Amino acid sequence: MAKKSIRGAVVAITGGARGIGLATAQALRAQGAHVSIGDIDAQLAAQAAARVGAYSAELDVRDKASFSRFLESTHSALGPVDVLINNAGIMPMGPFVDEADAISDAQIDINLRGVIHGMKLVLPEMIARGSGHIVNVASLAGRFPIPGASVYCGTKFAVCGMSEALRGELRNTGVNVSVVLPSRVSTELSTGTAAGNGVPTVTPEDVAQAVLDAIQYQLPEVSAPGYLRPVSRYFNVLPRWLEDAARRVVKDDRIMTRLDRVARAPYEQRLSTLVSQPRSAKGANQ
Ligand SMILES: NC(=O)c1ccc[n+]([C@@H]2O[C@H](COP(=O)([O-])OP(=O)(O)OC[C@H]3O[C@@H](n4cnc5c(N)ncnc54)[C@H](O)[C@@H]3O)[C@@H](O)[C@H]2O)c1
Repeated sequence: MAKKSIRGAVVAITGGARGIGLATAQALRAQGAHVSIGDIDAQLAAQAAARVGAYSAELDVRDKASFSRFLESTHSALGPVDVLINNAGIMPMGPFVDEADAISDAQIDINLRGVIHGMKLVLPEMIARGSGHIVNVASLAGRFPIPGASVYCGTKFAVCGMSEALRGELRNTGVNVSVVLPSRVSTELSTGTAAGNGVPTVTPEDVAQAVLDAIQYQLPEVSAPGYLRPVSRYFNVLPRWLEDAARRVVKDDRIMTRLDRVARAPYEQRLSTLVSQPRSAKGANQ
């Protein structure tokens, strides 16, 4: 497919104050897109936006009214949203039975419900216009389940399934849906986790490039690194005995057995602050 230019496009990105979202905002700006960063950490989002030359506003993806305010303020500042990147997410780790209900709920609210809110809010205008693109940053854990991240995997599987179904539903409308599947990425979210044997760690910039590829080439699914895409697509067709053997070789339970809680403490502190924070009830603009 011919490469589509994103120069001048208005792109709204959730969770863009740091990590993959910030790297993506930077990559999009470098291509001439107008970028709006939404993040629950409004102060950090404003600093990030000032650095990359983007617009920013407070956003709590758990709250549909907050998401609506973010999109409306983006529209007022930059124009109609051409691309929505649902990137905000959290990844608590550890045994399922020990996970507090509030932490399980937060993953569903942010990683899944937040994506649903965003898509429902942008789609009517995109469909009416006959153009638009939604990119959902899921994870390879949305195709390849990891012990120690059961609820997280559940949310990411849901995002993959929902994205595929919606892509079919929107066929012939001019609106595209893509899903991006990163391996382990060197951000705060993965601090203190150990990847399985042979599982690569990529940079936020690698994932930003995957997001750009999804938009510019209208791809349904992109993984980072790219060579893992066949693994994510075809792993599940292996006979169970072979899958189990492959999992033993990879040591897929490393997240449980080699989780560095000390290194992870600052991220877990950020999560507990977020979870105890009531859903946003404030205005969105900076
Ligand atoms: N880092 C990895 O190893 C990895 C691997 C695969 C997929 N992912 C996915 O990539 C996405 C980005 O992850 P990251 O590694 O950049 O994480 P990160 O923690 O570095 O950044 C996530 C951003 O989302 C924001 N956020 C959290 N809750 C929010 C809410 N309710 N509303 C608005 N913003 C909120 C945070 O403030 C933060 O700025 C996530 O969806 C994650 O699941 C990450």
